[in-house]
Amino acid sequence: MSNSGQDNQGTNTLLAHIGNNPHDYYGFVNPPVVHASTVLFPDAETMATRNQKYTYGTRGTPTTDALAAAVDTLEGSAGTIIVPSGLAAVTIPLLAFLSADDHVLIVDSVYHPTRHFADTMLKRLGVEVEYYDPAIGAGITSVMKENTKVVFTESPGSNTFEMQDIPAIAAAARARGAVVMMDNTWATPLYFRPLEHGVDISIHAATKYPSGHSDILLGTVSANERCWEQLHETHITMGCCAAPDDVYQVLRGLRTMGVRLERHEKNALEIARWLKAQSGVAQVLHPALESFASHALWKRDFSGSSGIFSIVLNGGGEKEAHAFLNALKLFGLGYSWGGYESLAVHVWLGDRTVARRSYAGPVIRLQIGLEDAEDIKRDLTNALQAVANA
Ligand SMILES: Cc1ncc(COP(=O)(O)O)c(C=O)c1O
Repeated sequence: MSNSGQDNQGTNTLLAHIGNNPHDYYGFVNPPVVHASTVLFPDAETMATRNQKYTYGTRGTPTTDALAAAVDTLEGSAGTIIVPSGLAAVTIPLLAFLSADDHVLIVDSVYHPTRHFADTMLKRLGVEVEYYDPAIGAGITSVMKENTKVVFTESPGSNTFEMQDIPAIAAAARARGAVVMMDNTWATPLYFRPLEHGVDISIHAATKYPSGHSDILLGTVSANERCWEQLHETHITMGCCAAPDDVYQVLRGLRTMGVRLERHEKNALEIARWLKAQSGVAQVLHPALESFASHALWKRDFSGSSGIFSIVLNGGGEKEAHAFLNALKLFGLGYSWGGYESLAVHVWLGDRTVARRSYAGPVIRLQIGLEDAEDIKRDLTNALQAVANA
């Protein structure tokens, strides 16, 4: 039976049943993967009025509807658009709500390609782009202008994981008429539901945990009632629709996302706590650790943590970072995350303009996969030893 928002059910029960209704398609448990451009109309009158559920492939199919309905249930949103990548899930809502001479505030710890889009395309289109400190909270009011149309948040921040006071920012921004967007990829809607905290638009790189297997690129954007029409209209106008096989695979991934995330969370916390005690590690940047600067915000607002965090090596520079990465055998060296396998990357923080911090050594981001924790620790032990020998 399809489930459209039965709030009293547990998360894994929801994940197993949301989206499609099997009895809409002969009882098959999963929805059909509809490959479609053309949709036929029964007669000229229906064609002229477009008075039927589906009219053209770019405007939705039973496959995209199933995933959008599932995400709406998880996010508590009025509507969800599905786009071909997580980056498109960032750029399309920004294009939907910004025009020339508008001002946009973006958190300084934002995913770098979001900043690149703002600094190049948004500026070229005449949008005034400004960055703010992730710790700003209700102080966002002091940097808002008459023409601030969008406040863009990401919590925790990319690579350094600073938590933002989302309810305070959202309340202040909306009081001044701005649309509040949040890149919520890290938490997934299982661990944070942005729209319940005053955010208007929740953005996900479904490439990460919803897909879960490092083989799909997809994005979802979910809006509340007040923003849905404009978001939807922009999606149709831009023709930025996703391929049916990818949409299907992400709906398939959602079914196991709850159990995968539990394991990512448990593994990552165990490894993070263990790393804190290693002499080669100066700092562990993980919001769910009590020692983390903005831990209180995570604890207040989030119901869980996922599998990605960073460590700061105890001194050194690129040579030590490369020694660490080159010694890893289980961890792959890769930019993405959210898949079943562990990954590491030496992060670059040179783009920060407002929230520059100095760290004791190189910052290495770790995506902790579903492997056995003891094997992961052994690989990290070797890597830390390689740094000591470098
Ligand atoms: C926070 C965040 N948002 C968005 C994206 C973009 O996702 P995609 O790789 O699907 O374009 C990423 C990818 O790493 C990300 O980390």
